[in-house]
Amino acid sequence: MLAEAKLDQIDAASYRRVVALTFDATGIRLGGTKQRMVSGRLRRLVQEAGCASYADYLDRAMSDVAERSRMLDSLTTNETYFFREPAHFELLEQQLAAAQGPWTVWSAASSTGEEPYSLAITLRDHLPRAHGRGSRILATDVSPSVLAEARRAEYAGRSLGKVSPPQLRTHFEDRGGGRYRVKEATRSLVTFARLNLMGPWPMRGPFDLVLLRNVMIYFDDPTRRWLVERIAALIRPGGHLFIGHSETLGEDRPTLERLRPAVYRRTDAPAQTRARPR
Ligand SMILES: C[S@@+](CC[C@H](N)C(=O)[O-])C[C@H]1O[C@@H](n2cnc3c(N)ncnc32)[C@H](O)[C@@H]1O
Repeated sequence: MLAEAKLDQIDAASYRRVVALTFDATGIRLGGTKQRMVSGRLRRLVQEAGCASYADYLDRAMSDVAERSRMLDSLTTNETYFFREPAHFELLEQQLAAAQGPWTVWSAASSTGEEPYSLAITLRDHLPRAHGRGSRILATDVSPSVLAEARRAEYAGRSLGKVSPPQLRTHFEDRGGGRYRVKEATRSLVTFARLNLMGPWPMRGPFDLVLLRNVMIYFDDPTRRWLVERIAALIRPGGHLFIGHSETLGEDRPTLERLRPAVYRRTDAPAQTRARPR
């Protein structure tokens, strides 16, 4: 009883540690007002780890990589669904109609896979067959648990709400009980990998298109500017960046020209990359 009461609300010192750890690992700024959310999400982990307090649990998470990863997983928001923000997929269809060859796309915060599989469906349906087959989608996320779910490729309910009946028939197999799995031919366009947007990146690009949607909202302005410049350097001149419709990039971005809300085109200006701001 006493232990449970102690876990009701995270103490100020532990909260500061969580904020620092989360920023270092993911670039996400929790800010000074998320104690209730953090307590709600960590309480169960603290109990499962058999720790008596948040401070004990953080000591554990500092020395145990798997526990730290579980903690960061529980603090990040993974909400996503197929064909989220449909304007992007409508524009992509138009762009693909003029495509001269296979496309290379990066879904840079792919969560449980709905975004990269929506891209795969669009590429297969709107590129000539040979270009569709030769196209590649890199899908990355910092969270191992969402990547595991993405690789399973099985979905149900709200996640599929914007998938049309013909898309469902063509690209999914019915697993029963309202669950559908993305078919192998569509799955095979997508490669999942763990990648922290704040860390080093092994890939060189260039990409025809990068989706960086609904992840920047958690970063502060300097981190956001730095990240966007880094991404722009991997987009071919004339290629595109899609961001979330509730996100903005600001005006200081010589390598990206704004075409419409949440859509940018890479200019010919040379990209400049800097160290991550702290
Ligand atoms: C709300 S989801 C966005 C999913 C998808 N892009 C969409 O718009 O529907 C945000 C994702 O960003 C990931 N994320 C947060 N910080 C990250 C980082 N530093 N590096 C890579 N992924 C990160 C989270 O794990 C989560 O899966």
